[in-house]
Parts: sequence; structure tokens; C-alpha cells
Amino acid sequence: MDKLLIDGGARLNGEITVSGAKNATLPILCASLLSAEPVQLENVPNLQDVRTMLKLLGQMGVRSEVNGNAVTLDASQVDKPVAPYELVKTMRASILVLGPLVARFGHAQVSLPGGCAIGARPVDQHIKGLTAMGAQISIEHGFIDARARRLKGAHVITDMITVTGTENLLMAAVLADGETVLENAAREPEVTDLANLLVAMGARIDGIGTDRLVVHGVPRLHGARHAVIPDRIEAGTFLCAAAATGGDVTLRGVTPLILEAVIDKLREAGAQVSAGDDWIRLRMQGRARAVSFRTSEYPAFPTDMQAQFMALNAIATGTSQVVETIFENRFMHVQELNRLGANITIDGNTALVTGVDKLSGAKVMATDLRASASLVIAALVADGQTLIDRIYHLDRGYDRMEIKLGVLGASVSRVSANAPIDLVRGAVA
Ligand code: EPU
Repeated sequence: MDKLLIDGGARLNGEITVSGAKNATLPILCASLLSAEPVQLENVPNLQDVRTMLKLLGQMGVRSEVNGNAVTLDASQVDKPVAPYELVKTMRASILVLGPLVARFGHAQVSLPGGCAIGARPVDQHIKGLTAMGAQISIEHGFIDARARRLKGAHVITDMITVTGTENLLMAAVLADGETVLENAAREPEVTDLANLLVAMGARIDGIGTDRLVVHGVPRLHGARHAVIPDRIEAGTFLCAAAATGGDVTLRGVTPLILEAVIDKLREAGAQVSAGDDWIRLRMQGRARAVSFRTSEYPAFPTDMQAQFMALNAIATGTSQVVETIFENRFMHVQELNRLGANITIDGNTALVTGVDKLSGAKVMATDLRASASLVIAALVADGQTLIDRIYHLDRGYDRMEIKLGVLGASVSRVSANAPIDLVRGAVA
């Protein structure tokens, strides 16, 4: 298990290109199961979760060819519609094979994902929707077993807005017999990206980008080419890091339009943000001002940016209130930020952050993907060195983060698990 060693104190300066979106790529890779013809993808990020998904699809018989950020998938010879526990337990997004497998092959066996560091995260809505479409579903020996000769169109209203739930049901509906209406659908840009690929494959979907998706099922889909949208959370993370360090950073290959809620909050914190069609520049002078926010579904402030903003608030002037409404346990980073000298208290789903003048480097532990990103931001501004353990969480969702931070002038190095490290305290630079 690698660790990251970060010398705090450098202001981030310069320009980097943001990678393709993890949370768009994962459903899109699964969408390849819907056709016997090849799906050619571009702008696929180089991430552990992508490798896990390719491995999972590979075990089912999907052939993939990776060439840099281009991936071609061929699902003409799928012979084993099974997602085993060993892979599902390492990546919950594996549940995204369920809809496409039942839709095209009439059968799927997917291990039930267990609990997770950020919340219980049940998949009852995925099951409810597929059942409404006529699938026979049983849960036995820890597996969801779903069968249907051909799924039928249905009217589905999910109890809450669910991103992967919407994606799973959308992928099921495109090959169902008749019309499916998905009400209360997630409007996240990653859902829209998936829908656009499905349309390129011959699916008929109305209401893309809205909370009411109307799908007219077709008998089969064909192959397609598609470029994955930029990762708005990776972009937001680097913007937060730039703001926290008082830097001047330009991000290329981004879509500022899908980052509005985050950019608004950065401006409220005192950052100067300018943007064009596919770039964003953030400049920050002096300390950030504390900003309060609550997480919510798109287009509101994303839960996937909560931890990173908490790190920014930790060293801001003033006090802020952060309310997490999506996941019940997404404050695991708080204790670690406090180990670095932050002053954060938690009351239920609300965190109260009192900004401090400085943080000081220490050994800390990453607990999940975005928690890891918040620790990186805190470490970049802390006095002295910080060693972040369990960064496999970071590798799941950030494409070469330490290299990109290095380009921006940060001192970040990857150290192997057993290397003995005595941290240098106080300013290093
Ligand atoms: N929920 C249920 N039942 C369901 C589905 C969801 O109760 O059947 C609940 C969840 O427990 C949660 C809420 O509904 O409280 C919303 O969960 P959602 O289903 O939208 O989350 P997800 O689809 O499992 C995706 C992203 C997450 C991101 C959330 C929210 C992917 C692969 N994952 O998860 O990304 O936080 O949407 O936007 O798209 C990350 O990238 O770090 C990450 C965790």
C-alpha cells in the first residue's frame, strides 16, 4: 500500500489538463454490454476503478483494448453474466452491469454490494425498477439473481434521486419492449453523458438532462464512438487546492458549465475565477473566507466536493456550516483534518468548521476517495510534511494526481508501504 508524502507550503501555479470523468466512464463501460458491436471510447481516465471495471467485464467475456486514453470494447461473446463478490466488494459501481446484462442476455447474477465507508448505500431502487420492468429477482447467497425473457417498458418513480440507479434502469430500458418512463431521475452530467452514448448506439431517449427520462425500447443497439466528458470533481478538487494555497491555476479540457455550484462557492470564498468554453482559471490572494453550504443533487453543490471544501474552510477566515444530505456517514475526513490542526465539530449531518491560521503536517489515513483528496489539500497548506496512508483510495478516482500536483509546483512523492519515514516538522521549502 503506497503512501503520499507531501511538503506543505508551495503555492500552486501553472496549467494542467483534467482527465475524463470517472463516474461517467464506469456506466459507459457497462453500456458496451448492450451491443454485439464494438464501442470505441476516448478520454477514458487512467484509474484503478476503470481497470477493475475492465477486469469485471473481461471475466464475462467482453474483450477490451486499451491504447492510452482510448478504449475499445467488444461484447459480442459474453458467456458469463456474473459479477463476483471479490470484484463488487472493491468497487460498488460494479452494480452497473445488472441492468445491461438482464436487458441483453435475460439473466444476471451480481453480488450484493456490502456497506461502505460513507454510508449504507442500498441498491433497493435498482431492484425496484427492474422488477417493475418484469424481471424476476431473488436475493440468495449474497447475490442478486435477475431474470427476464425480455424486459417490458414501465413507469418507475424512484423513492429518492439515485445516480447509478438511474443509469442502471436507463440501460435496462433501452432494450425493453415498449416505453419506460423514469421519474425522479438523476440529472447529473454523468447520467447525461451515458444517455448521449446510448443515443449514439441507436437508443431512443427523450428528456435527457431532465428528471423525467422517457425511453422507447429498441430490439438492438449498434456500436458507437464516444468521448467521455471531463471530470468535474477532479477539476473542482484542483480548484480547491489552488484556492487553499493562494495559487494561480488554469485547468484545460474542462466544462465550466457543469461546475457552476462549485465555482459560485469558490468566488464566495474570495477566489477570482474566469472561464471559457473548455478552460477555467482560478487566482486567489490571501486567505479564503469561510463558506457554508449543503450538499444536494445536481445542479446543486455535489457531495463529492464536500470533503475538499471542508479542507479549504479549515484554513479560512471565519466559521462555516457544512450540511451533508446525500450520505449519512461522509465525515470520516474530519477526524484526520483535526489531526492536522483543523477545528471541526460534527453534530449529526452538520459540521461546524472554525477556520484556523495554520495546519501542521502529521501522519494521517485516507478513508475514502474524496476524504483522501481533502487530506491532500490540507497537506499542501500545512506546515512541514504530511504522510497520507492508504492512498489506494485516491488511485481509484484521480488520474496521476501527484504528477499533476507536481506540474503545479507542489512537492508530492509516492513512497512504498514499508519505507521508514520520519516527518520533517515545520517549513520545508
Ligand atoms: N440510495 C438508496 N437506495 C438505492 C440507491 C441509492 O437508498 O437503491 C441512497 C444512497 O444510500 C444515498 C442516496 O440514495 O444516500 C444517493 O445515492 P446514489 O445512488 O445517487 O449514489 P451512487 O449512485 O451509489 C454516485 C457516485 C458517487 C456519488 C453519488 C452521489 C458513481 C459510480 N458514484 O453513487 O460517487 O457520491 O452518486 O452523487 O457514479 C465518488 O466518486 O467518490 C462517489 C462516491
